[in-house]
Amino acid sequence: MKNLFTPNFGQIPYYLAGRVDVIEDITRALDNTPGDPNQTTILIGARGTGKTALLRTISNIADQRGWISVNTACLSGLLEDIIQQTTRKGASFLEKKEGVRFKSINVASVFGVEWEYTSGSQPNWRSRMTDILEALAEHDLGLLITIDEIDPTLDEMIQLASVYQLLAGDGRKIALLMAGLPHQVSTLLGNKSVSFLRRSAQCHLERISDADVETAFRATVDASGKEIDGSALREAVTAINGFPYMLQLVGYRSCQATGQSSEIANDAVARGTLLAAQDMRTRVLKATLDELSNADLAFLQAMLEQSGASSSSQIAHVLGKGSAHVSTYRRRLLEQGVIVETGRNRFDFALPMLRSYLPEYLESYL
Ligand SMILES: Nc1ncnc2c1ncn2[C@@H]1O[C@H](COP(=O)(O)OP(=O)(O)OP(=O)(O)O)[C@@H](O)[C@H]1O
Ligand SMILES: [Mg+2]
Repeated sequence: MKNLFTPNFGQIPYYLAGRVDVIEDITRALDNTPGDPNQTTILIGARGTGKTALLRTISNIADQRGWISVNTACLSGLLEDIIQQTTRKGASFLEKKEGVRFKSINVASVFGVEWEYTSGSQPNWRSRMTDILEALAEHDLGLLITIDEIDPTLDEMIQLASVYQLLAGDGRKIALLMAGLPHQVSTLLGNKSVSFLRRSAQCHLERISDADVETAFRATVDASGKEIDGSALREAVTAINGFPYMLQLVGYRSCQATGQSSEIANDAVARGTLLAAQDMRTRVLKATLDELSNADLAFLQAMLEQSGASSSSQIAHVLGKGSAHVSTYRRRLLEQGVIVETGRNRFDFALPMLRSYLPEYLESYL
């Protein structure tokens, strides 16, 4: 029997739960004239919140709406990669549209963009991109650049953002969609040479509502040829707790636990949840905590003293530190997506199961 849950990072799920508003905002922006603020959007979220899946989903939507989307990772060679992907995708778009094949012809010339490479005088990235955008515009096509896992320390990332601002400012049909962990995004936004990015649309990928989780879970179970009753479904939704990666893990493991039976019963969900929790600990929680400093971890440990949300003064008391220390670490952990504000001057753990896993981690790895 099929198992349509996708517990793999970067994979577009069979049924994307929630995220309707951001998809609508960006889709509308793509249909709109240049200058719509949502044409420059940054998706911000902790590990496993679904940044890559959303980026890819939107990129597919753009491909259906008169845009060419190129998807890149934030690695050196980024700028050249964008040029090459755009010319290749542009050429194949035209091939399809005009029903011809440009077999042996150079892709760049088919696409109408050729550069003179005389020694040492290669046109710069901005003018090459301008040529490409003009060639695309002749066919009424725009260019959506998506960049996953933004790395604010990569020079090419900063160059790309600066040139993008100029091209967009010239009224070209170009859009930029980026995704990153909270601290990567805040470092990027702190860079003065790309300060215009602070005015971009910033979308924080928060937990998905139980109702949306339930709809997605049921739809994926149905399509996998299995059944689930209301009580087992509620148990799964509670275990998932709005976290996209858990949705896939709990679903995948529960389907597996039913074996050949078509009914996902409560005991299969219970077993699936147990295995999912183990996957979550090793693949998300440990990886997240490994990136933190000892002082960050001490702050989190102090939060364990409260059974629910903590306040800064409680943490200051437990740590025996002043308010400056507490507010620095509080901000760092908020930026990392490890804690979340739950009310006026109150905060709690942001990732599911972090509270219960933390003591075990501190014992084993410190
Ligand atoms: N809206 C959603 N509905 C259902 N499943 C989702 C959703 N978003 C993501 N997923 C699933 O959750 C898992 C994690 O998604 P994804 O890889 O996009 O996370 P990420 O934020 O990019 O993580 P990382 O920071 O580690 O790169 C994948 O298995 C994906 O299929
Ligand atoms: Mg990702």
